[in-house]
Amino acid sequence: MMKIAIMGAMIEEVEPFLNLGEHEPLLKYFKKHNDVNYGGNLYHEAKYKGLDIVLGYSKIGKVNAALTAATMIEKFGAEQLLFTGVAGAVNPSLKIGDLIAATQLCQHDLDITAFGHPHGYVPEGKVYVEPSRELLRIAKSVADEKEIALKGGVIATGDQFIADPERKKWIETTFDADAIEMEGAAVAVVCDQLNIPFFVLRAISDTADTDATFDFDEFLKHSSQVSSSFVLAMLDKIADGQDQ
Ligand code: ADE
Repeated sequence: MMKIAIMGAMIEEVEPFLNLGEHEPLLKYFKKHNDVNYGGNLYHEAKYKGLDIVLGYSKIGKVNAALTAATMIEKFGAEQLLFTGVAGAVNPSLKIGDLIAATQLCQHDLDITAFGHPHGYVPEGKVYVEPSRELLRIAKSVADEKEIALKGGVIATGDQFIADPERKKWIETTFDADAIEMEGAAVAVVCDQLNIPFFVLRAISDTADTDATFDFDEFLKHSSQVSSSFVLAMLDKIADGQDQ
């Protein structure tokens, strides 16, 4: 049975999958069989339509995201990873609530340009990491079937909440970025290095300008729901494909 990791950064981003009970979260869509606390995070193991699932959130930022992605793969045996969450829009065509699937991910705050390297690059690494084409294909077919507008684009990741037009512009011009967030590229590097097909989906919560913190608080919940619903539809498709 295929084991799939579903990961967010904040509890709000995976909450649509959970019924938060008084003492422990119950899984809404999945047949739950185990909860494991490991390395400061709670992982839910479950079953869904013939798929094994491990679900959890990492806490914010690249280090936390890398730990969770690696744990889901190495400790829980995840064979594919789907990331769900929210992002700040950089491309002006992306509005609050819109979905973007990463076609490339980069780290905008990785900087050894002092040694003549490009932004986002370290030796033996690459500036852009690419998600699984097969998972992108599945996402596209879900979007087509459900008539959901799904954009593809460059997601730039860094350990900074961007609420500054100048920094936003710099990330846009330096990396040709469409959206910014704080975990995607970390997950991408881990999965790429460990040969695990992965997919990063984000629904826009803000436009990374001066009012970004206000919008983020306002739209986090709704945009998280938009992204989670789409990931659930992808799981349905993956589960169907597995039966054939
Ligand atoms: N996630 C959602 N909005 C963001 C922003 N403006 N900066 C960084 N990460 C985000």
